[in-house]
Amino acid sequence: MNRPLRVLVTGAGGQVGVDLVDTLHATEPLGASAGFRPDAREVGRDEFEVLGLTHHDLDITDRDRVVTVLRATRPDVVVHLAAYTAVDRAETDAAHCFAVNATGTGNLSDAAHETGAHFIAVSTDYVFDGEKGSSYVEDDVTNPLSVYGTSKRDGELLCRDGDTIVRTSWVMGVRGKNVLHVIADRAASGEHVRFVNDQTGTVTVASDLACALVAMVRSRPGGTWHVANAGTTTWFDIADFVGSVLGRGGDFATAIATRDLSPAPLAHRPVRSDLDTTKWCTQFAPMPEWRDGVTRLVRDRLPRTAP
Ligand SMILES: NC(=O)c1ccc[n+]([C@@H]2O[C@H](COP(=O)([O-])OP(=O)(O)OC[C@H]3O[C@@H](n4cnc5c(N)ncnc54)[C@H](OP(=O)(O)O)[C@@H]3O)[C@@H](O)[C@H]2O)c1
Repeated sequence: MNRPLRVLVTGAGGQVGVDLVDTLHATEPLGASAGFRPDAREVGRDEFEVLGLTHHDLDITDRDRVVTVLRATRPDVVVHLAAYTAVDRAETDAAHCFAVNATGTGNLSDAAHETGAHFIAVSTDYVFDGEKGSSYVEDDVTNPLSVYGTSKRDGELLCRDGDTIVRTSWVMGVRGKNVLHVIADRAASGEHVRFVNDQTGTVTVASDLACALVAMVRSRPGGTWHVANAGTTTWFDIADFVGSVLGRGGDFATAIATRDLSPAPLAHRPVRSDLDTTKWCTQFAPMPEWRDGVTRLVRDRLPRTAP
């Protein structure tokens, strides 16, 4: 019998990390799609040996410690999810953001290379400036608008040939801190919300991304991949849809423009950064449509008010 594939996950306490660790353990995370199997395979109970490392377990900015941990554990694959993700705070905390997202990613790619592990790094649509006017493909030129986006782009550049870079966008998990919880809380408490309808992107449900990452762990394809749920949307459309799932009327969400946000966010965000996932879809099963994913998140978050 083959030995389990040993997978080290950084950022295992984050919203994608908790869902990925569950999925690798053949446990369905909250919000999971019962039918989404990107490579048509179930996860076997003993298929993976999982080393899920939280920030407490490993600070990825500590290069010596990263090397020591990888030498000691000898993973077959490293899935790198640890990141500084506070997009607005990063504008006034740039050195810290670059230390984690750029230097930390380089530390892990180097250590993975030295110890013979395949390296999978997760990146973001915010590496793009949003000026293209249509969905972004993997080879499009990057031009980040924010400190966070620049730090993630620099992290990509510090990856080595042969590494796999998975760009994803607008991630939402049942157990993560994300805007879906804010919307659902307000919908449940009878309040109204205002969201921008002039930023277009692609939603990614954390449990669906976790399934995609498992397929990447198995196939170790290398190169850059765009992975997100199907369909483009805006923050207003998401809020309006969550309102409808929770039985709120059409006046629950109001569309506003980014320039009307008060206070104005510190970080600039791309106007249109939806990811073209054609490359993913030619090799793996398409991700579920975003409304399907958001419905699952709302259902599993609030079981008593499920649709
Ligand atoms: N969230 C999104 O909308 C989004 C969109 C596109 C791409 N992504 C990318 O997707 C990946 C996963 O994101 P996520 O949503 O799961 O983020 P998350 O919930 O913020 O999780 C990131 C984790 O990284 C940890 N971390 C921070 N600094 C660290 C360090 N120096 N060493 C080790 N761990 C550290 C954090 O721990 P502490 O909280 O304890 O510091 C946290 O548990 C990231 O690469 C992110 O850039 C996210």
